Amino acid sequence: MQACLLAAQKIMEKRTIIIDCDPGIDDSLALMLALVSPEIRIAGVTVASGNVPADLGGKNALKILKFMGQLDILVYQGAMVPLKREYISAQDTHGMDGLGESGISEVTEASVHLGAVDFILDTLKKEEKVSIIALGPLTNLALALKKDPLAFQNLEMLVSMGGCFKSYGNCSPVAEYNYWCDPDSAEYVYQNLGKKIHMVGLDVTRKIVLTPNILEYMKRLDQEEHQNRGAFVEAITRFYFDFHWNYEGLIGCVVNDPLAVAYFLNPKLCGGFDAYVAVETGGISIGQSVVDSMDFWKKKPNAHVLTWADSLGFWSMFLSRLYGRGEEGIRQILKELMNL
Ligand code: BDR
Ligand code: CA
Repeated sequence: MQACLLAAQKIMEKRTIIIDCDPGIDDSLALMLALVSPEIRIAGVTVASGNVPADLGGKNALKILKFMGQLDILVYQGAMVPLKREYISAQDTHGMDGLGESGISEVTEASVHLGAVDFILDTLKKEEKVSIIALGPLTNLALALKKDPLAFQNLEMLVSMGGCFKSYGNCSPVAEYNYWCDPDSAEYVYQNLGKKIHMVGLDVTRKIVLTPNILEYMKRLDQEEHQNRGAFVEAITRFYFDFHWNYEGLIGCVVNDPLAVAYFLNPKLCGGFDAYVAVETGGISIGQSVVDSMDFWKKKPNAHVLTWADSLGFWSMFLSRLYGRGEEGIRQILKELMNL
């Protein structure tokens, strides 16, 4: 009996996480997935400058929390500028408002707190095990690590959406935005964390495409479940659809960040290998994640680099959780919609 109770308790135990982000259209989808996932407890959302300046990103995080009915989760603003490099936002990709020019009203019932770096450190010191899912430039984490490296002993797992291995970059031929925006922070975290960083790079996130078919399916689910989550996703991704059409000839949009959350929830959705990674901090390849896959440098691996992702598995998880439905039924329909 006692053993059963303990086992049940273990199953119910939620893993504590901090989401460090820069919302951002795809950050918003990642937050939505995390907010409907019962196996995690979000201790707080911290924001760095990335897609939009951190103060605006914080306000956007509140908009997502409000939409999902979870304004009780606190949002902390962090670094306004990268460690050394001049700050360059991605408002060309995400809209000046960071949410695809969707015109969602400001949240007035809650406000953004200052002190993301101290919040991260306090949480790490207070809780026995904390994981961090980083969806933007690693500035807040680098600052926290510099300030109090010992606090990171309690870090269970760091999942970072960033970098690329064999895939091309999205800011230069070789660099992905999050690491390109603040390469010095990324490099600092990779070299000093002392734990393997789970690198969810463009190699895998490019597989996660929100297509018109999937969006249409969400709107049908909206009708069946009396929801407006599909309509909300449509409102914030329209701009992103246009961007992908204009720059990549793609009808749909790549949503990078939610895969990092999905991978944290179910690591079997992706696969990869351990390797040593360094991030280039200058020159023409600034921001490149250099993955020593052939072990030239004989250095201890500091990363688990993802190379494949199960996109059907991802969308099945995303939609079934967002609509509180069984995964199998959703999966069957998605198979048709994704021509699999
Ligand atoms: C990453 O950069 C941002 O534009 C996205 O939110 C994602 O985190 C992809 O390169
Ligand atoms: Ca992001």
